[in-house]
Amino acid sequence: MNPSTLIAPPALVRRAEQQDTKAIQALDSAHYLHPFTDHAGLASRGARVITRADNIYVWDSEGAKILDAMSGLWCVNAGYGRKELADAAYQQMMTLPFYNSFFNTTNVPAVQLATKLASLAPKVGGRSFEHVFFSSSGSESNDTNVRMVRRYWDLLGQPQRKVIISRNNAYHGSTMAGASLGGMGGMHAQGDLPIPNITHIEQPYFFENARPGESEADFGRRAAGWLEAKILEVGADKVAAFIAEPVQGAGGVIIPPETYWPEIQRIVDQYGILLISDEVICAFGRLGHWFAYEKFGYRPDLVTFAKGVTSGYIPLGGVMVGDRVARVLIEKGGEFNHGYTYSGHPVACAVALANLELMERENLVGRVKDDTGPYLARRFAELKDHPLVGGAETCGFVAGLVLVKNKATNAMFDADLGVGMICRGHCFKNGLIMRAVGDRMIIAPPLVMTHAQIDEMMALIVRCLDATLDDLRSAGELA
Ligand SMILES: Cc1ncc(COP(=O)(O)O)c(C=O)c1O
Repeated sequence: MNPSTLIAPPALVRRAEQQDTKAIQALDSAHYLHPFTDHAGLASRGARVITRADNIYVWDSEGAKILDAMSGLWCVNAGYGRKELADAAYQQMMTLPFYNSFFNTTNVPAVQLATKLASLAPKVGGRSFEHVFFSSSGSESNDTNVRMVRRYWDLLGQPQRKVIISRNNAYHGSTMAGASLGGMGGMHAQGDLPIPNITHIEQPYFFENARPGESEADFGRRAAGWLEAKILEVGADKVAAFIAEPVQGAGGVIIPPETYWPEIQRIVDQYGILLISDEVICAFGRLGHWFAYEKFGYRPDLVTFAKGVTSGYIPLGGVMVGDRVARVLIEKGGEFNHGYTYSGHPVACAVALANLELMERENLVGRVKDDTGPYLARRFAELKDHPLVGGAETCGFVAGLVLVKNKATNAMFDADLGVGMICRGHCFKNGLIMRAVGDRMIIAPPLVMTHAQIDEMMALIVRCLDATLDDLRSAGELA
Protein backbone atom coordinates (compact mmCIF):
# COMPACT_ATOMS: atom_id res chain seq x y z
CA MET A 1 0.00 0.00 0.00
CA ASN A 2 1.46 3.35 -0.99
CA PRO A 3 1.33 5.76 1.97
CA SER A 4 0.60 8.66 -0.39
CA THR A 5 -2.89 7.27 -0.94
CA LEU A 6 -3.58 8.14 2.70
CA ILE A 7 -2.75 11.80 2.28
CA ALA A 8 -6.29 12.87 1.67
CA PRO A 9 -7.45 16.35 0.65
CA PRO A 10 -9.14 18.33 3.46
CA ALA A 11 -12.66 17.39 2.43
CA LEU A 12 -11.76 13.73 2.70
CA VAL A 13 -10.10 14.22 6.06
CA ARG A 14 -13.38 15.58 7.36
CA ARG A 15 -15.23 12.62 5.86
CA ALA A 16 -12.45 10.25 6.84
CA GLU A 17 -14.79 7.31 7.27
CA GLN A 18 -14.53 7.07 3.49
CA GLN A 19 -10.90 6.06 3.88
CA ASP A 20 -9.86 2.47 3.56
CA THR A 21 -9.76 1.10 7.10
CA LYS A 22 -7.88 -2.05 6.16
CA ALA A 23 -5.17 -0.04 4.39
CA ILE A 24 -4.71 2.28 7.36
CA GLN A 25 -4.54 -0.71 9.73
CA ALA A 26 -1.91 -2.39 7.55
CA LEU A 27 0.31 0.71 7.58
CA ASP A 28 -0.36 1.17 11.27
CA SER A 29 0.95 -2.26 12.18
CA ALA A 30 3.80 -1.96 9.68
CA HIS A 31 5.17 1.30 11.07
CA TYR A 32 3.53 2.66 14.19
CA LEU A 33 4.55 1.46 17.65
CA HIS A 34 1.73 2.47 20.02
CA PRO A 35 1.98 3.25 23.74
CA PHE A 36 1.15 0.38 26.13
CA THR A 37 0.28 -2.05 23.33
CA ASP A 38 0.85 -5.72 22.54
CA HIS A 39 1.74 -5.25 18.88
CA ALA A 40 1.39 -8.86 17.85
CA GLY A 41 -2.15 -8.85 19.21
CA LEU A 42 -2.90 -5.50 17.62
CA ALA A 43 -1.68 -6.63 14.21
CA SER A 44 -4.02 -9.62 14.28
CA ARG A 45 -7.04 -7.50 15.26
CA GLY A 46 -6.27 -4.22 13.48
CA ALA A 47 -6.43 -0.89 15.30
CA ARG A 48 -9.67 1.05 15.62
CA VAL A 49 -9.10 4.14 13.49
CA ILE A 50 -10.56 7.29 15.06
CA THR A 51 -11.01 9.92 12.40
CA ARG A 52 -12.95 12.86 13.80
CA ALA A 53 -14.70 14.19 16.87
CA ASP A 54 -17.27 16.71 18.03
CA ASN A 55 -18.55 17.66 21.49
CA ILE A 56 -18.57 14.35 23.46
CA TYR A 57 -18.49 12.00 20.45
CA VAL A 58 -15.79 10.49 18.25
CA TRP A 59 -16.24 8.68 14.94
CA ASP A 60 -14.23 5.78 13.58
CA SER A 61 -13.20 5.05 10.01
CA GLU A 62 -16.24 2.78 9.56
CA GLY A 63 -18.51 5.70 10.38
CA ALA A 64 -19.48 4.47 13.87
CA LYS A 65 -20.38 7.24 16.33
CA ILE A 66 -19.00 6.60 19.83
CA LEU A 67 -19.76 8.46 23.06
CA ASP A 68 -16.36 9.17 24.57
CA ALA A 69 -16.85 8.77 28.30
CA MET A 70 -13.06 8.93 28.84
CA SER A 71 -12.47 12.43 27.37
CA GLY A 72 -9.81 10.97 25.07
CA LEU A 73 -7.40 10.02 27.84
CA TRP A 74 -8.82 12.04 30.75
CA CYS A 75 -8.00 15.26 28.96
CA VAL A 76 -10.63 16.70 26.58
CA ASN A 77 -12.32 18.60 29.40
CA ALA A 78 -13.82 21.27 27.11
CA GLY A 79 -15.09 18.69 24.62
CA TYR A 80 -14.12 18.25 20.98
CA GLY A 81 -14.50 20.72 18.12
CA ARG A 82 -13.79 23.95 20.03
CA LYS A 83 -12.96 26.48 17.33
CA GLU A 84 -11.61 28.99 19.89
CA LEU A 85 -8.72 26.65 20.64
CA ALA A 86 -7.86 26.08 16.99
CA ASP A 87 -8.00 29.84 16.38
CA ALA A 88 -5.68 30.51 19.32
CA ALA A 89 -3.15 28.02 17.94
CA TYR A 90 -3.38 29.49 14.43
CA GLN A 91 -2.97 33.08 15.61
CA GLN A 92 -0.01 32.21 17.81
CA MET A 93 1.67 30.16 15.07
CA MET A 94 1.40 33.12 12.72
CA THR A 95 2.78 35.51 15.38
CA LEU A 96 5.49 33.47 17.10
CA PRO A 97 5.33 29.70 16.55
CA PHE A 98 8.29 28.99 18.79
CA TYR A 99 10.88 30.57 20.90
CA ASN A 100 12.68 29.07 23.87
CA SER A 101 12.75 30.34 27.44
CA PHE A 102 16.46 29.61 27.96
CA PHE A 103 19.19 32.32 27.89
CA ASN A 104 17.22 35.08 29.62
CA THR A 105 14.36 35.13 27.11
CA THR A 106 10.65 34.72 27.55
CA ASN A 107 7.44 34.92 25.52
CA VAL A 108 4.12 36.59 26.17
CA PRO A 109 1.75 33.55 26.23
CA ALA A 110 4.03 31.72 28.70
CA VAL A 111 4.11 34.74 31.02
CA GLN A 112 0.35 35.19 30.72
CA LEU A 113 -0.36 31.53 31.38
CA ALA A 114 1.96 31.36 34.42
CA THR A 115 0.21 34.46 35.79
CA LYS A 116 -3.23 32.97 35.11
CA LEU A 117 -2.37 29.63 36.74
CA ALA A 118 -0.98 31.40 39.80
CA SER A 119 -4.29 33.26 40.12
CA LEU A 120 -6.34 30.05 39.76
CA ALA A 121 -4.39 27.98 42.30
CA PRO A 122 -6.20 28.31 45.64
CA LYS A 123 -4.20 29.52 48.62
CA VAL A 124 -4.53 27.08 51.50
CA GLY A 125 -3.13 27.41 54.99
CA GLY A 126 -1.19 30.56 54.06
CA ARG A 127 0.63 28.79 51.21
CA SER A 128 0.35 30.05 47.67
CA PHE A 129 1.58 29.08 44.24
CA GLU A 130 3.14 32.08 42.54
CA HIS A 131 5.47 30.14 40.22
CA VAL A 132 5.07 27.63 37.41
CA PHE A 133 7.60 25.43 35.60
CA PHE A 134 6.39 24.28 32.17
CA SER A 135 6.95 20.98 30.38
CA SER A 136 5.04 19.14 27.65
CA SER A 137 3.56 16.23 29.62
CA GLY A 138 2.71 14.77 32.98
CA SER A 139 5.68 12.40 32.85
CA GLU A 140 8.17 15.20 32.21
CA SER A 141 6.58 17.22 34.98
CA ASN A 142 7.11 14.43 37.47
CA ASP A 143 10.73 14.12 36.35
CA THR A 144 10.97 17.84 37.08
CA ASN A 145 9.51 17.18 40.53
CA VAL A 146 12.20 14.63 41.34
CA ARG A 147 14.94 17.06 40.24
CA MET A 148 13.34 19.95 42.12
CA VAL A 149 12.74 18.05 45.36
CA ARG A 150 16.33 16.81 45.46
CA ARG A 151 17.70 20.25 44.65
CA TYR A 152 15.54 21.77 47.39
CA TRP A 153 16.91 19.50 50.09
CA ASP A 154 20.49 19.88 48.81
CA LEU A 155 20.15 23.65 49.06
CA LEU A 156 18.87 23.32 52.61
CA GLY A 157 21.94 21.29 53.55
CA GLN A 158 20.06 17.99 53.86
CA PRO A 159 21.33 16.05 50.81
CA GLN A 160 20.58 12.75 52.56
CA ARG A 161 16.86 13.43 52.05
CA LYS A 162 16.50 11.54 48.80
CA VAL A 163 13.66 9.06 49.24
CA ILE A 164 10.32 9.78 47.61
CA ILE A 165 7.41 7.70 48.86
CA SER A 166 4.58 6.88 46.46
CA ARG A 167 1.76 4.32 46.38
CA ASN A 168 1.11 0.95 44.78
CA ASN A 169 -1.07 1.15 41.69
CA ALA A 170 -0.35 4.88 41.30
CA TYR A 171 0.29 6.25 37.82
CA HIS A 172 2.79 9.08 37.49
CA GLY A 173 3.93 8.66 33.88
CA SER A 174 6.14 6.57 31.70
CA THR A 175 9.62 8.14 31.80
CA MET A 176 12.21 6.49 34.05
CA ALA A 177 11.29 8.70 37.00
CA GLY A 178 7.56 8.75 36.19
CA ALA A 179 7.32 4.97 35.93
CA SER A 180 9.40 4.58 39.10
CA LEU A 181 7.17 6.96 41.04
CA GLY A 182 4.18 5.06 39.72
CA GLY A 183 3.25 1.87 41.46
CA MET A 184 2.46 -0.34 38.46
CA GLY A 185 4.13 -3.73 38.84
CA GLY A 186 3.99 -4.39 35.10
CA MET A 187 5.97 -1.23 34.41
CA HIS A 188 8.53 -1.92 37.10
CA ALA A 189 9.09 -5.38 35.67
CA GLN A 190 10.40 -3.87 32.42
CA GLY A 191 13.62 -1.86 32.59
CA ASP A 192 14.83 -2.48 36.16
CA LEU A 193 12.53 -0.03 37.88
CA PRO A 194 12.03 1.70 40.20
CA ILE A 195 15.21 3.76 40.13
CA PRO A 196 16.90 4.02 43.55
CA ASN A 197 15.35 5.99 46.40
CA ILE A 198 11.73 5.56 45.41
CA THR A 199 9.53 3.34 47.55
CA HIS A 200 5.82 2.59 47.77
CA ILE A 201 3.02 2.10 50.27
CA GLU A 202 -0.40 0.50 49.76
CA GLN A 203 -3.20 2.53 48.15
CA PRO A 204 -6.32 3.60 50.10
CA TYR A 205 -8.69 1.25 48.26
CA PHE A 206 -11.51 0.53 50.71
CA PHE A 207 -13.13 -2.22 48.63
CA GLU A 208 -9.94 -4.28 48.50
CA ASN A 209 -7.96 -3.32 51.58
CA ALA A 210 -10.47 -2.68 54.38
CA ARG A 211 -10.79 -5.19 57.20
CA PRO A 212 -14.13 -6.93 57.69
CA GLY A 213 -16.45 -4.52 59.51
CA GLU A 214 -14.02 -1.59 59.33
CA SER A 215 -15.68 1.79 58.69
CA GLU A 216 -14.52 3.93 55.78
CA ALA A 217 -13.38 6.61 58.21
CA ASP A 218 -11.27 4.18 60.22
CA PHE A 219 -9.86 2.65 57.06
CA GLY A 220 -8.90 6.11 55.71
CA ARG A 221 -6.91 6.89 58.86
CA ARG A 222 -5.29 3.44 58.89
CA ALA A 223 -4.32 3.76 55.20
CA ALA A 224 -2.72 7.15 55.84
CA GLY A 225 -0.85 5.53 58.71
CA TRP A 226 1.01 3.37 56.17
CA LEU A 227 2.84 6.57 55.17
CA GLU A 228 4.00 7.18 58.74
CA ALA A 229 5.12 3.57 59.08
CA LYS A 230 7.13 3.87 55.85
CA ILE A 231 8.73 7.16 56.96
CA LEU A 232 9.86 5.50 60.18
CA GLU A 233 11.10 2.42 58.30
CA VAL A 234 13.16 4.53 55.85
CA GLY A 235 14.31 6.98 58.53
CA ALA A 236 12.54 10.33 58.79
CA ASP A 237 15.72 12.29 57.98
CA LYS A 238 16.06 10.44 54.65
CA VAL A 239 12.58 11.12 53.28
CA ALA A 240 12.30 13.97 50.78
CA ALA A 241 8.66 13.85 49.67
CA PHE A 242 5.40 11.96 49.36
CA ILE A 243 3.69 11.97 45.94
CA ALA A 244 0.07 10.99 45.32
CA GLU A 245 -2.87 11.57 43.03
CA PRO A 246 -5.82 13.19 44.85
CA VAL A 247 -7.99 10.41 43.36
CA GLN A 248 -6.01 7.59 41.84
CA GLY A 249 -7.02 7.68 38.15
CA ALA A 250 -5.35 5.13 35.88
CA GLY A 251 -5.24 2.73 38.84
CA GLY A 252 -9.02 2.45 38.56
CA VAL A 253 -10.54 5.66 40.00
CA ILE A 254 -9.67 4.89 43.62
CA ILE A 255 -11.43 7.56 45.70
CA PRO A 256 -9.94 7.84 49.19
CA PRO A 257 -12.14 8.01 52.30
CA GLU A 258 -12.66 11.55 53.65
CA THR A 259 -10.35 10.88 56.59
CA TYR A 260 -7.38 9.99 54.38
CA TRP A 261 -6.01 13.34 53.19
CA PRO A 262 -6.28 15.21 56.54
CA GLU A 263 -4.25 12.45 58.18
CA ILE A 264 -1.69 12.48 55.33
CA GLN A 265 -1.35 16.24 55.86
CA ARG A 266 -0.76 15.74 59.57
CA ILE A 267 1.95 13.18 58.86
CA VAL A 268 3.86 15.18 56.21
CA ASP A 269 3.72 18.23 58.52
CA GLN A 270 4.97 16.25 61.49
CA TYR A 271 7.99 14.94 59.59
CA GLY A 272 8.57 18.09 57.52
CA ILE A 273 8.51 16.26 54.17
CA LEU A 274 7.33 17.80 50.91
CA LEU A 275 3.93 16.88 49.52
CA ILE A 276 3.49 16.50 45.75
CA SER A 277 -0.08 16.44 44.46
CA ASP A 278 -0.12 14.83 41.01
CA GLU A 279 -3.17 16.46 39.45
CA VAL A 280 -2.53 15.52 35.84
CA ILE A 281 -6.05 14.04 35.79
CA CYS A 282 -7.72 15.76 38.72
CA ALA A 283 -7.07 19.47 38.03
CA PHE A 284 -8.95 21.83 35.71
CA GLY A 285 -12.47 20.98 36.77
CA ARG A 286 -12.29 17.21 36.76
CA LEU A 287 -13.23 17.09 40.46
CA GLY A 288 -15.25 20.33 40.38
CA HIS A 289 -12.32 22.58 41.33
CA TRP A 290 -9.52 24.24 39.39
CA PHE A 291 -7.10 22.25 41.53
CA ALA A 292 -8.10 19.11 43.41
CA TYR A 293 -6.11 19.75 46.60
CA GLU A 294 -8.74 22.39 47.35
CA LYS A 295 -11.48 19.75 47.31
CA PHE A 296 -9.70 17.60 49.88
CA GLY A 297 -8.31 20.57 51.84
CA TYR A 298 -4.64 19.61 51.90
CA ARG A 299 -1.61 21.82 51.31
CA PRO A 300 0.80 20.50 48.67
CA ASP A 301 4.22 22.01 47.98
CA LEU A 302 4.26 20.98 44.31
CA VAL A 303 1.34 20.27 41.98
CA THR A 304 1.82 18.34 38.74
CA PHE A 305 -0.53 19.25 35.89
CA ALA A 306 -0.95 18.44 32.17
CA LYS A 307 -3.90 17.06 30.13
CA GLY A 308 -6.89 19.32 30.99
CA VAL A 309 -4.84 22.53 30.96
CA THR A 310 -5.22 22.55 27.16
CA SER A 311 -8.14 20.10 27.09
CA GLY A 312 -5.66 17.85 25.30
CA TYR A 313 -5.68 19.97 22.13
CA ILE A 314 -1.89 20.35 22.31
CA PRO A 315 0.72 18.88 24.66
CA LEU A 316 1.47 20.98 27.73
CA GLY A 317 2.32 20.10 31.31
CA GLY A 318 4.01 21.66 34.26
CA VAL A 319 4.52 22.00 37.97
CA MET A 320 2.91 24.60 40.21
CA VAL A 321 5.72 25.44 42.61
CA GLY A 322 4.59 26.49 46.08
CA ASP A 323 6.26 29.30 48.01
CA ARG A 324 8.17 26.98 50.32
CA VAL A 325 10.11 25.41 47.43
CA ALA A 326 10.19 28.43 45.12
CA ARG A 327 11.78 30.67 47.74
CA VAL A 328 14.66 28.26 48.30
CA LEU A 329 15.23 27.60 44.60
CA ILE A 330 15.15 31.28 43.69
CA GLU A 331 16.95 32.80 46.66
CA LYS A 332 19.59 30.14 47.31
CA GLY A 333 19.67 28.09 44.14
CA GLY A 334 21.56 29.96 41.40
CA GLU A 335 21.04 28.21 38.07
CA PHE A 336 18.75 25.16 38.14
CA ASN A 337 20.30 22.93 35.48
CA HIS A 338 17.04 21.58 34.15
CA GLY A 339 14.59 22.42 31.36
CA TYR A 340 13.03 21.35 28.11
CA THR A 341 13.16 22.80 24.60
CA TYR A 342 9.40 23.16 24.77
CA SER A 343 9.16 24.60 28.31
CA GLY A 344 6.73 27.50 27.91
CA HIS A 345 5.99 26.71 24.26
CA PRO A 346 4.11 29.81 23.01
CA VAL A 347 1.53 27.90 20.95
CA ALA A 348 0.76 25.44 23.75
CA CYS A 349 0.49 28.30 26.25
CA ALA A 350 -1.80 30.29 23.92
CA VAL A 351 -4.11 27.28 23.55
CA ALA A 352 -4.10 26.77 27.32
CA LEU A 353 -5.08 30.41 27.87
CA ALA A 354 -7.94 30.08 25.37
CA ASN A 355 -9.02 26.84 27.03
CA LEU A 356 -9.06 28.32 30.53
CA GLU A 357 -10.97 31.35 29.25
CA LEU A 358 -13.54 29.08 27.60
CA MET A 359 -13.88 27.02 30.77
CA GLU A 360 -14.44 30.18 32.81
CA ARG A 361 -16.95 31.60 30.31
CA GLU A 362 -18.98 28.38 30.34
CA ASN A 363 -18.53 27.88 34.09
CA LEU A 364 -17.46 24.27 33.47
CA VAL A 365 -15.77 23.92 36.86
CA GLY A 366 -18.79 25.28 38.75
CA ARG A 367 -21.16 23.11 36.72
CA VAL A 368 -19.29 19.95 37.65
CA LYS A 369 -19.18 21.00 41.31
CA ASP A 370 -22.80 22.06 41.74
CA ASP A 371 -24.85 20.67 38.88
CA THR A 372 -23.63 17.96 36.50
CA GLY A 373 -21.27 16.33 39.03
CA PRO A 374 -24.03 15.76 41.62
CA TYR A 375 -26.38 14.63 38.84
CA LEU A 376 -23.81 12.10 37.60
CA ALA A 377 -23.32 10.93 41.20
CA ARG A 378 -27.08 10.28 41.58
CA ARG A 379 -27.38 8.45 38.29
CA PHE A 380 -24.17 6.43 38.75
CA ALA A 381 -25.26 5.31 42.24
CA GLU A 382 -28.28 3.59 40.61
CA LEU A 383 -25.82 1.08 39.12
CA LYS A 384 -25.33 -0.42 42.58
CA ASP A 385 -28.63 -2.25 42.01
CA HIS A 386 -27.23 -4.07 38.98
CA PRO A 387 -26.51 -7.77 39.67
CA LEU A 388 -22.89 -7.41 38.49
CA VAL A 389 -21.95 -4.25 40.37
CA GLY A 390 -20.28 -4.50 43.77
CA GLY A 391 -19.74 -0.76 44.27
CA ALA A 392 -20.13 2.41 42.20
CA GLU A 393 -18.70 5.80 43.18
CA THR A 394 -18.07 9.16 41.59
CA CYS A 395 -15.99 12.19 42.52
CA GLY A 396 -16.82 15.17 40.31
CA PHE A 397 -16.50 13.86 36.78
CA VAL A 398 -14.58 10.65 37.44
CA ALA A 399 -16.41 7.47 38.31
CA GLY A 400 -15.67 3.81 38.83
CA LEU A 401 -17.59 0.62 39.46
CA VAL A 402 -16.41 -2.86 40.33
CA LEU A 403 -17.77 -5.99 38.67
CA VAL A 404 -18.31 -8.78 41.18
CA LYS A 405 -19.36 -12.40 41.06
CA ASN A 406 -21.31 -12.24 44.30
CA LYS A 407 -22.88 -9.02 45.53
CA ALA A 408 -23.48 -10.37 49.02
CA THR A 409 -19.85 -11.28 49.65
CA ASN A 410 -18.18 -9.00 47.07
CA ALA A 411 -16.35 -12.06 45.72
CA MET A 412 -14.51 -11.19 42.53
CA PHE A 413 -14.39 -13.17 39.28
CA ASP A 414 -11.33 -15.22 38.41
CA ALA A 415 -8.92 -12.67 36.90
CA ASP A 416 -8.26 -15.01 33.94
CA LEU A 417 -11.87 -14.54 32.81
CA GLY A 418 -11.10 -10.91 32.00
CA VAL A 419 -14.61 -9.76 32.88
CA GLY A 420 -13.61 -6.10 32.64
CA MET A 421 -12.35 -6.64 29.09
CA ILE A 422 -15.57 -8.47 28.16
CA CYS A 423 -17.54 -5.47 29.39
CA ARG A 424 -15.22 -3.06 27.56
CA GLY A 425 -15.79 -5.04 24.36
CA HIS A 426 -19.54 -4.56 24.75
CA CYS A 427 -18.97 -0.85 25.30
CA PHE A 428 -17.15 -0.51 21.97
CA LYS A 429 -19.82 -2.55 20.21
CA ASN A 430 -22.53 -0.32 21.65
CA GLY A 431 -20.86 3.00 20.86
CA LEU A 432 -19.39 3.82 24.27
CA ILE A 433 -15.81 4.33 25.36
CA MET A 434 -15.41 3.14 28.94
CA ARG A 435 -12.11 1.89 30.31
CA ALA A 436 -11.46 -1.40 32.12
CA VAL A 437 -8.82 -1.62 34.87
CA GLY A 438 -8.95 -5.25 35.87
CA ASP A 439 -12.60 -5.67 36.77
CA ARG A 440 -13.13 -2.00 37.52
CA MET A 441 -14.97 -0.04 34.82
CA ILE A 442 -14.16 3.65 34.83
CA ILE A 443 -15.18 6.89 33.15
CA ALA A 444 -14.01 10.52 33.04
CA PRO A 445 -16.45 12.28 30.70
CA PRO A 446 -15.91 15.67 29.03
CA LEU A 447 -16.98 18.43 31.43
CA VAL A 448 -19.37 19.86 28.84
CA MET A 449 -21.70 16.89 29.21
CA THR A 450 -25.34 17.86 29.78
CA HIS A 451 -27.93 16.07 31.92
CA ALA A 452 -29.45 14.56 28.77
CA GLN A 453 -26.04 13.30 27.68
CA ILE A 454 -25.41 11.83 31.15
CA ASP A 455 -28.73 9.97 30.74
CA GLU A 456 -27.64 8.77 27.30
CA MET A 457 -24.31 7.54 28.71
CA MET A 458 -25.99 5.81 31.65
CA ALA A 459 -28.37 3.95 29.34
CA LEU A 460 -25.38 2.72 27.33
CA ILE A 461 -23.53 1.64 30.49
CA VAL A 462 -26.55 -0.38 31.67
CA ARG A 463 -26.89 -1.98 28.23
CA CYS A 464 -23.23 -3.04 28.34
CA LEU A 465 -23.48 -4.37 31.89
CA ASP A 466 -26.54 -6.39 30.86
CA ALA A 467 -24.71 -7.81 27.84
CA THR A 468 -21.76 -8.76 30.07
CA LEU A 469 -24.15 -10.44 32.50
CA ASP A 470 -25.73 -12.41 29.64
CA ASP A 471 -22.29 -13.59 28.49
CA LEU A 472 -21.33 -14.71 31.98
CA ARG A 473 -24.62 -16.54 32.43
CA SER A 474 -24.24 -18.27 29.06
CA ALA A 475 -20.71 -19.30 30.00
CA GLY A 476 -22.04 -20.79 33.26
CA GLU A 477 -20.04 -18.35 35.40
CA LEU A 478 -23.18 -16.99 37.05
CA ALA A 479 -26.50 -18.50 38.06
C1 LIG B 1 -1.73 11.19 37.50
C2 LIG B 1 -0.89 11.14 36.27
N1 LIG B 1 0.37 11.59 36.31
C3 LIG B 1 1.15 11.58 35.22
C4 LIG B 1 0.68 11.10 34.02
C5 LIG B 1 1.57 11.08 32.82
O1 LIG B 1 1.20 12.06 31.93
P1 LIG B 1 1.69 11.98 30.40
O2 LIG B 1 1.07 10.79 29.79
O3 LIG B 1 1.21 13.29 29.84
O4 LIG B 1 3.18 11.92 30.44
C6 LIG B 1 -0.63 10.65 33.93
C7 LIG B 1 -1.16 10.13 32.66
O5 LIG B 1 -2.24 9.59 32.58
C8 LIG B 1 -1.44 10.66 35.08
O6 LIG B 1 -2.69 10.18 35.06
